[in-house]
Amino acid sequence: MASSMLGRTAVISGGARGIGRAIAERFARNGAKIIILDLDRDAVAETAEEIAEASGSDALGIGCDVANRDSVEAAMEAGNARYGSIDILVNNAGVTRDNLIHKMPDEDWDLVMSVHLKGTFLCTSVAQRYMVANKYGKIVNISSTSSLGNRGQLNYSTAKAGLQGFTRTLALELGRFNINVNCIAPGFIDTEMTRATAERLGFTPEEYKAKRAENIAIRRVGVPEDVANLASFLCDDEASYVNGQIIYLSGGPETRR
Ligand SMILES: NC(=O)c1ccc[n+]([C@@H]2O[C@H](COP(=O)([O-])OP(=O)(O)OC[C@H]3O[C@@H](n4cnc5c(N)ncnc54)[C@H](O)[C@@H]3O)[C@@H](O)[C@H]2O)c1
Repeated sequence: MASSMLGRTAVISGGARGIGRAIAERFARNGAKIIILDLDRDAVAETAEEIAEASGSDALGIGCDVANRDSVEAAMEAGNARYGSIDILVNNAGVTRDNLIHKMPDEDWDLVMSVHLKGTFLCTSVAQRYMVANKYGKIVNISSTSSLGNRGQLNYSTAKAGLQGFTRTLALELGRFNINVNCIAPGFIDTEMTRATAERLGFTPEEYKAKRAENIAIRRVGVPEDVANLASFLCDDEASYVNGQIIYLSGGPETRR
């Protein structure tokens, strides 16, 4: 069966690399027209070009700071001007600034809140205008198992828990406009973000992955494509009765780590 994404326009924030890139690649293979927003202007242009070439779908890379309203407004407008609608939004852009509370500078608290929470709010508040007008939309927010508590990630854990409340409330507000809002809360996914964490803790990426896999029921860490597969399902009309849900994607039930 053809994907219901065929011909739809999908915006993926933070899609120049990692999980966002895998989602953009998967959506392009489903036949969606892709708009990737990322702070890294050069990487986002390159990624969009590579995706278009590999999939044959249209892909546009736009330099954008999701935490800045003018930047988000301009990016969404450019995307809509090119493709004529915005049907799907994945709020994926993210950063970590890990530290224990007594060592956490205000700037690191503010940055993490602003990228995850304000960024998701801004991208959604602009995208939903187009979705409401078309009475069609799919929104997926990327939370984390860290929302359940993770020592050294006070800012990140708080922001990722916030995204879960955001998801449930937005689903209640937008459901009547035929817009589905759901949330994926991944566990450990092998990306540059987790490779940087490994280095900071004094492990090689391979050592760290092996160590983390020991505590995962399925005995492996996740890969970006695992998240892309679930996002693809949630943004397909086959999942149109799934709304306001937080789905943990972590190789097992969430238990004490
Ligand atoms: N990797 C994991 O284990 C894991 C687990 C759970 C949740 N997540 C979440 O998944 C998402 C993607 O993570 P990843 O591992 O691919 O990270 P990553 O660091 O590889 O990629 C994040 C991307 O977001 C972009 N970005 C950062 N700030 C931005 C801003 N202000 N505006 C626009 N773009 C910005 C970066 O340039 C980068 O391309 C993040 O929200 C992260 O918190 C990751």
